[in-house]
Amino acid sequence: MTRHFLRLTDLSPVEARQIVLRASALKNLRDPSFRPFTGKTLAMIFTKSSTRTRVSFEAGMAKFGGHALFLTTATTQLGRDEPISDTARVLSRMCDAIMIRNDSQAQQQELAAHSRVPVVNGLSELHHPCQMLADLQCWFEHRGDPAGKVATWIGDGNNVCHSWIEAASMFGFTLRIAAPKGYEPDAELVRSGGKQVQMVSSPADAARGADLLVTDTWTSMGQEAETQRRLAAFAGFQVDEALMALAKPDAIFMHCLPAHRGEEVSAAIIDGPQSVVWDEAENRLWAQMALLEFLIA
Ligand code: CP
Ligand code: NVA
Repeated sequence: MTRHFLRLTDLSPVEARQIVLRASALKNLRDPSFRPFTGKTLAMIFTKSSTRTRVSFEAGMAKFGGHALFLTTATTQLGRDEPISDTARVLSRMCDAIMIRNDSQAQQQELAAHSRVPVVNGLSELHHPCQMLADLQCWFEHRGDPAGKVATWIGDGNNVCHSWIEAASMFGFTLRIAAPKGYEPDAELVRSGGKQVQMVSSPADAARGADLLVTDTWTSMGQEAETQRRLAAFAGFQVDEALMALAKPDAIFMHCLPAHRGEEVSAAIIDGPQSVVWDEAENRLWAQMALLEFLIA
């Protein structure tokens, strides 16, 4: 059976842990003869912008002997209404895996249903599971096993937040979420996290004593028309020095990037000593290569 990675829970907790630890091993390997993807091709479909996701998959495939194809709707027949199911049938006869970034988890599922090869979600409106693998790798590398610890999500209950929710039960940490009214994560997903996922109304209460603070943009791709309304709604939800001071003294700060200094995070925090965002970004490459090794090598 072809395995896909459209959300974090498409892996078992054991598999996810293996991939995260393998990602750190790959990072430390430094062996140019290790080329598990020789002769393998990854098709990457982007209907939205990307810096990290594109470059990490493309550079990672090249580093490990494979090849990545950058495809957009504008330059493929997807932009002229070729069905995603037909695209899946064709790409999966030529390539060894397909990565897709778009705004439809349902369309990604349709792509996977018609693909002979693994399909990987490079971000949808509901999940960002590749980001989560890199974030978990980063947490392990900086502070050891997340089990039993507390992470606090401040801000929009968006796609990245949803992947954090799934990670909490899989990796045994508590996730506290402080989001403005009307911008909470999916209620059903929160419920599925049980006691380990807690909605907290005040950012200060959510941050108090936490091992990790994480946030993301207040306006995700595709929501640009709502920017002004969102800026008003998210007032008081910035991760700044005062909020960070409530967390544990050795707490770390994460952000999937791109960041907006002065909005969801202050410059002092993202550019300060508790921030691990550059390691987090680098880990996209290692975590995704460990994932592809699991799926196709
Ligand atoms: N974090 C992330 O996915 O970045 P890009 O949008 O640049 O790919
Ligand atoms: N929540 C953001 C993440 C960007 C990597 C978005 O969907 O635009």
